[in-house]
Amino acid sequence: MQHDLDFACALARSAGAIVREHQGRTERLTKQGDEAVTALDRDSQRHIVAALTARFPNDGILGEENDAGTGITFTQPRSGKRVWVIDPIDGTNNFVAGLGNFAVCIGLLDDGYPILGVVYDVMRDQLFAGGTDLGATCNGQSISALTTPPTAASLLMLTSNMLNAQGRMPTWAAALHAQTTWKIRVLGSAALEAVMVAAGIAQGSITVNGKLWDIAAAAAVILGAGGEVIDLSGKPVFPLSLAGYNGGKVPYLAAAPSAKAALLACLKPSSLVSSVDP
Ligand code: IPD
Ligand code: CA
Ligand code: CA
Repeated sequence: MQHDLDFACALARSAGAIVREHQGRTERLTKQGDEAVTALDRDSQRHIVAALTARFPNDGILGEENDAGTGITFTQPRSGKRVWVIDPIDGTNNFVAGLGNFAVCIGLLDDGYPILGVVYDVMRDQLFAGGTDLGATCNGQSISALTTPPTAASLLMLTSNMLNAQGRMPTWAAALHAQTTWKIRVLGSAALEAVMVAAGIAQGSITVNGKLWDIAAAAAVILGAGGEVIDLSGKPVFPLSLAGYNGGKVPYLAAAPSAKAALLACLKPSSLVSSVDP
């Protein structure tokens, strides 16, 4: 398995090299309200898919893009239950704007469980890698989730879109923004936000509207680092059935074990603070 992870690491770096010089110089192809896509998202995915297909011809591939621009790529495994999950650029709006928070994400699910993953922070040249039974690293140095309880200095990562299925901000999300205990941070790349938990930088990361490619790679790194990946009610996200997967949302909380209870308490309506103006 380490060999597969090493291959994915080299591949994420080479995809990063393809997109790096284009940050801030590439147009978004999609309209406001649609998913952000550039030609470089497609170039990156094409590069990754070609390499994975050549090296692992029996594995399936799920990618956010496709060359025709008509949706996602999903090829089933020819044998076994391994599916590579690719986000060729996570943080495309940052990439277009020239803000250097974006990542190449390559994860591997086996029977719906993340066994290895790579999140490559292209502009900082930081490669987060890991998996179950593999531990977790950043540029080869071991990393681990925090084991200390949250303090007044603890970081909590949030994603930029907190709207629920009704298009409204949940009350717990408003409450989190209306307090000063958790130090709220938003990077604009769900995967980079999540691996901050694996790196022991943040106690938690909450993504409401993530898709499977936003989480698969980061989840493997977090689990390898001793962190937890659960849904917003506290149940494990994985194993996750990929049958018929077509881009459905996979909301999740990535948490240091020592902060999990406190974070789940924040997601309950009873955690509301009085400073929210109704
Ligand atoms: C998006 C980013 C963003 C998150 C969105 C994702 P993309 O991914 O991770 O931070 O808020 O939910 O869709 O479109 O840049 O790959
Ligand atoms: Ca993404
Ligand atoms: Ca993307």
